[in-house]
Amino acid sequence: MFGLQMIFLQCNCLIVKILIWSLCFAALCHAWMPDSSSKLINNFKSVSSISFPGNATFPDHFIVLNQDANSIIVGGRNRIYNLSIYDFHERKEGRIDWPSSDAHGQLCILKGKTEDDCQNYIRILYHTEPGKLVICGTNSYKPLCRTYAFKDGKYLVEKEVEGIGLCPYNPEHNSTSVYHNGQLFSATVADFSGGDPLIYREPQRTELSDLKQLNAPNFVSSLQYDDYIFFFYRETAVEYMNCGKVIYSRVARVCKDDKGGPHQSRDRWTSFLKARLNCSIPGEYPFYFDEIQSTSELVEGKYNSEENNRIIYGVLTTPINAIGGSAICAYRMDDILRVFEGSFKHQESINSNWLPVPENMVPTPRPGQCVRDSRILPDKNVNFIKTHSLMEEAVPAFFGKPILVRVSFQYRFTAITVHAQVKTINNQYFDVLYIGTDDGKVLKAVNVPNGDTAKAIVISENTVLPHGAAVKQLKLSDYSSYGKVVVVGRDEVRLATLNHCASITRCSECVELQDPHCAWDAKQNSCVSIDIVTSYRFLIQDVLRGDGSKCWSPQKDKKTVIKNKKDNTAIEKEIIANSIDEEGTDSTDPLVRTGLDDPECDPVSENSVGGCAVRQQLVIYTAGTLHIVVVVVSIVGLFLGFIAGYLFSQKFHSSTQYPEAPFIEQHNHLERLGANQTGYLTPRANKAVNLVVNVSGSSPPPKKDNLEVGKDLNISSDGTLQKIKKTYI
Ligand SMILES: *[C@@H]1O[C@H](CO)[C@@H](O)[C@H](O)[C@H]1NC(C)=O
Ligand SMILES: *[C@@H]1O[C@H](CO)[C@@H](O)[C@H](O)[C@H]1NC(C)=O
Ligand SMILES: *[C@@H]1O[C@H](CO)[C@@H](O)[C@H](O)[C@H]1NC(C)=O
Ligand SMILES: *[C@@H]1O[C@H](CO)[C@@H](O)[C@H](O)[C@H]1NC(C)=O
Repeated sequence: MFGLQMIFLQCNCLIVKILIWSLCFAALCHAWMPDSSSKLINNFKSVSSISFPGNATFPDHFIVLNQDANSIIVGGRNRIYNLSIYDFHERKEGRIDWPSSDAHGQLCILKGKTEDDCQNYIRILYHTEPGKLVICGTNSYKPLCRTYAFKDGKYLVEKEVEGIGLCPYNPEHNSTSVYHNGQLFSATVADFSGGDPLIYREPQRTELSDLKQLNAPNFVSSLQYDDYIFFFYRETAVEYMNCGKVIYSRVARVCKDDKGGPHQSRDRWTSFLKARLNCSIPGEYPFYFDEIQSTSELVEGKYNSEENNRIIYGVLTTPINAIGGSAICAYRMDDILRVFEGSFKHQESINSNWLPVPENMVPTPRPGQCVRDSRILPDKNVNFIKTHSLMEEAVPAFFGKPILVRVSFQYRFTAITVHAQVKTINNQYFDVLYIGTDDGKVLKAVNVPNGDTAKAIVISENTVLPHGAAVKQLKLSDYSSYGKVVVVGRDEVRLATLNHCASITRCSECVELQDPHCAWDAKQNSCVSIDIVTSYRFLIQDVLRGDGSKCWSPQKDKKTVIKNKKDNTAIEKEIIANSIDEEGTDSTDPLVRTGLDDPECDPVSENSVGGCAVRQQLVIYTAGTLHIVVVVVSIVGLFLGFIAGYLFSQKFHSSTQYPEAPFIEQHNHLERLGANQTGYLTPRANKAVNLVVNVSGSSPPPKKDNLEVGKDLNISSDGTLQKIKKTYI
């Protein structure tokens, strides 16, 4: 054992790399990796985007405040900007300048904040009526709101009110708000130090410093649905009874028309309830992604079921000091509502376990239901909900598990937005997801429900923000032009075009991309973006399976029947896919297309059969054999590496110096794991490798590591690490 370790310590970094790679491949080829690898990888230079830098010399802490059909409003430092969504040109007439007053600025500096903190970062904007808007800003750690009216081509201040409880003090604070029916519901902090989090709608708020209601929350998003306002956030879990602190993701709700409780509880919610969000890989010990970072808007579709489902996509990650695992889970509004109808959770005394409340102990009317006038609710009802705001059941993920999992040493997911229900040429609907990372990438993926499960296929991985800046927010800019997405970083906003159709030159690649935005035009021999085509007539697409063989054996799988000869009738009618019209087609009908305009590969003609078969085989090889080849090559490489390393170690036994540069690289990677800071390859770490994930340890957050991009190891959260550890010992 010792000998092996010596060899290991002395062999160079390459071998380590090969070892880790092959372990990852061996462990993961059959697990998640093939599902989650990206089909296209575009670096910063090859992504087309327009940057809006705002105040180029100072941090802006940008945030998208509002959006309409033609413009997008972003809030920054002392200013809001109105940008055209087509070319990101700033509409100067829509700009509002609002710096803090000198008095507020100086007071802020006196309180020990920095010059950059002591600015007015605009965080909230809503329209109260046409031509009138309210904006709120941090105003040098003294939140303030203003009403503006648009008159004679410019915005004029109408009134100014305090913004405490509505707008955060710190521009970095994770707050959210939703304006509904003349009222602003906000989730933020109401004090300078950030110690008083609340969910607030004048005059009701959550209980002050009641850790059972809110416990150091980071709010992520909010929306109105049905009779309720929902809030998504993560917070320290009160119900977690083991030692250490754990963060859980939550969804909370209040009734829109909550009027507060009787008597002295007028200013408290009588309907605040919350539940845990479950995003986990199922198993005997489910692996949890517990920290929600972002949600999409509410979207609606069938997702392989009979009835329509309203769902919201969430980005959830592992804790910051654990392995960088990120997942996308979808939640159905119906499931969320159902959990709030279920049992409440409670803790009898401070040291007892959290258990479901027996049904007979729940007062009637059921606490948390929306009532006409909450001020006349019985006291026992109001007191019950104050102490029982947590639901017993966690909201399950739609499809029972994440639709996408990524494990990376380089990045985590930070943001998500969705282009809902993009229609394919044969009338199927798929959600296209855009997912931001903390190192400036945006992944484009498609959610492909199949049977009773769903899986997101990553179409492309694009570096949109330079220098590894984190993506803070993503918004779809323009539903009618495919692939346009607004990417918000701290210091710039970019309008990126993630439409890859035109860069694809072969039919099979176009179809295998599974991008609902793209289809192969067999007439023009190009991969086209469906938003700009005028006819579906010669298009080939297969989002569900990505079966590239459709390009040369279309007769079997895809027969496009042109029903309607008139050119300008609805496109949908022009084509009926084979599934609907399998038999009734006559292949001699000139309107039935049997294949590409490629005589070589017409399966009907005799001499071309060979050609088609060969091409199809090629596809099978690339798809099926690649992983095996990689594994075999890695294992062979591993063996050769070990032998080489062993021989070297015998030869240069006295040498204790290792090459510096690769060593540092390796070291950095382990830092991202949150492992022992000394690194396990140093000579003094001459013991079992300390590579166990340290979830609750106090090691500092991982550093940005952009030394090398190619080494993105997708490793399984449990099994693989154990294997690495064992091998090292
Ligand atoms: C950036 O902000 C500073 C102070 O906040 C201001 O003096 C400067 O004019 C701004 N620059 C631009 C380009 O707006
Ligand atoms: C942004 O500018 C456009 C064009 O001037 C205008 O139509 C739109 O209402 C503006 N949006 C806001 C929120 O001011
Ligand atoms: C807000 O969320 C981001 C991303 O998760 C995190 O890095 C940051 O620390 C949070 N801000 C605060 C003030 O906690
Ligand atoms: C979360 O979901 C998984 C898989 O469906 C399940 O095994 C697990 O028990 C659930 N956890 C909680 C806390 O409900």
